[in-house]
Amino acid sequence: MTAAAPEPKTNMGQPVPRYDAAVKVTGRATYASDMPLADPAYAFLVTSAIAKGRVDRFDLDDARRVRGVIDIVTHENAPKLKESKLFSNGGYAGTTIQPLKSADIAHDGQIIAVVVAESYEAAREAANRVKVSYTATTPSATFDSPGTTTAAAKGQNAQFKEDPKVGDFAKAFDEAEVKLTASYDTPTQHHNPMELFSTSCAWMGDNLVIYEPSQFVYGLKNGVAEQLGIDADKVRVVNPYVGGGFGSRGSMTPRTAIIAAIAKRLNRPIKLVPTRDQGFTITTYRAETRHEIKLGARRDGKLVALRHEGAEVSSRPDPYCVGGTKTTTRLYACPNVDSLVSIVRADRNTPGFMRSPPEVPYLFALESAMDELAVKLNMDPIELRRINDTTVEPISGKPYTSRSLMACFDEAAKAFGWAQRSSQPKSMSDGDWLIGYGCATTCYPTHMGPSAARVRLQRDGRTRVEIAGHEIGTGAYTVIAQTAAERLGVPLEKVAVFIGDSDLPPAPVAGGSNSTASTCSVVMMVCDQIRQRLFKAVMPSQSLTDKAKETVGIGQTPATQAAKGDRALDLEKAFDALGVGVVEEYGEWKPEDAPLDSFRAMHSGQVRLVGGHAMKDQIAYAFGAEFVEVRVNRFTHEIRAPRLVGAFAAGRIMNPRTARSQLMSGLIWGMSSALLEATEIDERNARYVNDNFADYLVPVNADVPSVEVIMLSEQDDRINPAGAKGLGELANVGTNAAVCNAIYHATGQRIRKLPVRLENIE
Ligand code: MOS
Repeated sequence: MTAAAPEPKTNMGQPVPRYDAAVKVTGRATYASDMPLADPAYAFLVTSAIAKGRVDRFDLDDARRVRGVIDIVTHENAPKLKESKLFSNGGYAGTTIQPLKSADIAHDGQIIAVVVAESYEAAREAANRVKVSYTATTPSATFDSPGTTTAAAKGQNAQFKEDPKVGDFAKAFDEAEVKLTASYDTPTQHHNPMELFSTSCAWMGDNLVIYEPSQFVYGLKNGVAEQLGIDADKVRVVNPYVGGGFGSRGSMTPRTAIIAAIAKRLNRPIKLVPTRDQGFTITTYRAETRHEIKLGARRDGKLVALRHEGAEVSSRPDPYCVGGTKTTTRLYACPNVDSLVSIVRADRNTPGFMRSPPEVPYLFALESAMDELAVKLNMDPIELRRINDTTVEPISGKPYTSRSLMACFDEAAKAFGWAQRSSQPKSMSDGDWLIGYGCATTCYPTHMGPSAARVRLQRDGRTRVEIAGHEIGTGAYTVIAQTAAERLGVPLEKVAVFIGDSDLPPAPVAGGSNSTASTCSVVMMVCDQIRQRLFKAVMPSQSLTDKAKETVGIGQTPATQAAKGDRALDLEKAFDALGVGVVEEYGEWKPEDAPLDSFRAMHSGQVRLVGGHAMKDQIAYAFGAEFVEVRVNRFTHEIRAPRLVGAFAAGRIMNPRTARSQLMSGLIWGMSSALLEATEIDERNARYVNDNFADYLVPVNADVPSVEVIMLSEQDDRINPAGAKGLGELANVGTNAAVCNAIYHATGQRIRKLPVRLENIE
């Protein structure tokens, strides 16, 4: 049997095993590069060895001599592509740096040539023999490098609309009884998931099929069509399984349209499987950030002033930023708030989404500062959060739809044994090991997006659900199947789910943790359309009353409904009355707050997520409390995190088993982010140094002996029909600060720069 699945509490679905478990563990799941192609050619990328400058000359003679080489594409002979705007400015692209357009080089590892050959090995060999002469100029690598430029994010990035402010921060801070000013740094990080950034393109006449791991098949389809200058209906993106996303596959990268155009020109399907290190530069990443936090409080702990200033690195042309002040300025009650986000342009590839993009760096800063303030106030850090807990956000006074933050703290504190903590730093130890307990708030905005679905029901109860959602490893198949089974009252094993294909009805980007809320809400709606048809067929004189909407099941009667005396509809009878063998319904759903153009936009692959702070009359977030025990060796300064405990509240938990996996992985990733992960940049030449899985540190099982996930019951009927808050990006947020707060408690040393490694302990 499998590891024990958590027992569902109130307002939770069943912890059914994963829909896709068997195909995955038996190796039968077809990932993008597994898709069979007829007589494919193989592409291999040549990437730039300098970060700034130009290619003067290619010497391709040696490469061309490799047997099986078909073509070598450089800026001198590349197919012309149209531009796509940055996704945050209304386009599809994760970067506007378009390789092979000219001799110019904008960042390290930029694609400068594509070698196509009869085999992967021949393409790789030839790529290694491509000789490139460059004119290199000195690049600006990161913060403080000569040549960077800094400007406020507001006004350059259409998605960053406001630096939140309220009251009079300067005056309130000036007059505050207790003050704290502190600066924090977070490093560059790369997600670079297990499945490489492959792309396969095959044309049938004017129709293009793309097999590529994607978190947004409609975005990719429309973006590639735009770049190729063809009708989006001619492009299909297929990826039933994705080997990890984490944001890296949410926006279009430049590789896809190039490969598609070369495949067209050569009239051959092409398969590209880039290398691990290429994944660090041909896609996006989490950029390094800097923060200054100012907190002013009364002696009793009440916050009176809060200022959060953040700076983030981006590429020269693209104003990407995560702007986490939208969350940190609204998390606690505080009458005087100020904030500012700036973007620093360097000679780097454009950063992009990485799991909980805004909250990870920005809450690290705020939740570290809250701990520092608690120390100054000589107050328990949980009590400081309790004193400043709020049901309305302070910037515009909108109420939280639900907020179980302190309930999470209470549950997690109990499970962790917080009461056993002695508050003084360096006061707890075990032999050579100093012991520290730390905690922090975690939160993540509840997002939703317009979505469509088609559901087909047969008279024997077999059900087919079609929706262009994405299985990035989170359990999308499973919760969609559960939702349809529950709503139609058919056995789960009769439900087949089809996702990951842009020929299916559109769903939003699998990002911002919106997928469960969006896809389950639309699937519920379409299942209700089916029930309505069947009900009308059997009882034509009656309309489907609200009661019947709730209770009409099909085929089998769920126990809860049987208890209320409701019986399921006889499926055979209903189909006979309708005189059909199959009932199929299509429907489109949008969140209440989504703009009017949402339905049009969703078909053209544009992101229209709503939620979080940007709702009309309310603000929706999932919350949690995270606790970490660290042990720091007195002599070697080695840091261990033997225990992670988190309690979370995220509305309806659709499946406690898959939810627990997400929350557990989040806690582990958060710990990893605090203690291990960083992409090192050689500042002399703006190149990533540890672009591989050996030197880019991630935890192994031995690094996480104990992880405890507690899910609280929470009912929120105001967010979406499914009542679900996204939780995929909830748990890795607070852990960064919780670890550093624990290190302070263990050692008395406050470390404000991630990751914390033994050399950072004095
Ligand atoms: Mo998530 S970084 O929004 O895929």
